[in-house]
Amino acid sequence: MLQAISTLAILGLVARVLCDDLQDSLYGTWTSKSNQVFTGPDFYDPVEELLKEPSLPGISFSFTEDGYFEEAIYQVEGNPKDPGCPLAVIIYQHGKYDIQDNGTLTLTPFAVDGRQLLSQPCEDDGVSVYSRYNQTEVYKWFLVQENDYHGIQELQMYKADGSPMQPMYLAYRPPMMLPTETLNPTAASETSASNSKSKRSLRSLVRRSLENRHKTNAVKRSDSFVHSKIFKWASVGLIGVGSVIFLVS
Ligand SMILES: *[C@@H]1O[C@H](CO)[C@@H](O)[C@H](O)[C@H]1NC(C)=O
Ligand SMILES: *[C@@H]1O[C@H](CO)[C@@H](O)[C@H](O)[C@H]1NC(C)=O
Repeated sequence: MLQAISTLAILGLVARVLCDDLQDSLYGTWTSKSNQVFTGPDFYDPVEELLKEPSLPGISFSFTEDGYFEEAIYQVEGNPKDPGCPLAVIIYQHGKYDIQDNGTLTLTPFAVDGRQLLSQPCEDDGVSVYSRYNQTEVYKWFLVQENDYHGIQELQMYKADGSPMQPMYLAYRPPMMLPTETLNPTAASETSASNSKSKRSLRSLVRRSLENRHKTNAVKRSDSFVHSKIFKWASVGLIGVGSVIFLVS
C-alpha cells in the first residue's frame, strides 16, 4: 500500500516535471520561415487600435513561463481561379494557455482583445474590415526540437485534427509580447463617461508598460532565425490601408 502510494507520488512528480519541461520548451517568441511576422507592439498597437501589415505572410506565437500566450497571424490565400483576388487576413489574439497531461495545448484568448483585419479585394471593393476576433484554439500536441539542418530551435504544433501547422523557429527569448493582461475592457456596456475615462487610464497604463518593456524585455537570440538569411522572399503588401470599415466600438 505504502509502496503504491509512493509510486503514485513519483508518477505524479514525473508528470509535473514533464509538464514543466514542456512549458519551458515553449517559452519565447516563435516565427514561421518568412521571418517577418512577430508578436508584440510592432504587430498590434492596442493604444491606437492598429494592426500593422507585415511585409510577408507568416505566423508568430509567444509563450511566457507563467501561462500567457500571444499570436500574430498574417495569412494570404490565393484564389486559383483568379490570382488577382487573394484573401488576406491579419489576426491578433492573446490570453492564457494550458498544457494538459496528454500534451494537448489550449489557447484561451481574452475575448475582448482579439482583432481581425480581413481583405477580400474582389468582394469588398477594396474596403478591408476591422473587427473583434475571439477564437479558442486547441492544438493536439506540439514538439520543440533542434532543427538538424539549421541548428535552431523549431516548434511544430499540430492542429486539433492532427495535421501539422507550418513550423516556427525561435526568434526571441524572453518573448516579445504586449502586456499579458486585458488591454481593451470596452465590450461591457458602461456609461460612456466612466468608460472613456477608464479606457484613457488603461491606455496610459498600456503605453507606460510598453515603454518599460521596450527597455528591458525581448532578447533577440544571437543564434536565432532573425539574423539568418536562410529564406529569401519577395515582399507582398496586399491590404490597402486607406479604406477600412471599423466594426469595433
Ligand atoms: C487530450 O485530452 C483532451 C480531452 O481532455 C482531448 O480533446 C485531446 O484530443 C487529447 N489529446 C491527445 C493527444 O490525445
Ligand atoms: C469567446 O469565445 C468562446 C469560445 O471560443 C466563448 O465561449 C465566449 O463566450 C466568447 N466570448 C465573447 C465575449 O464573445
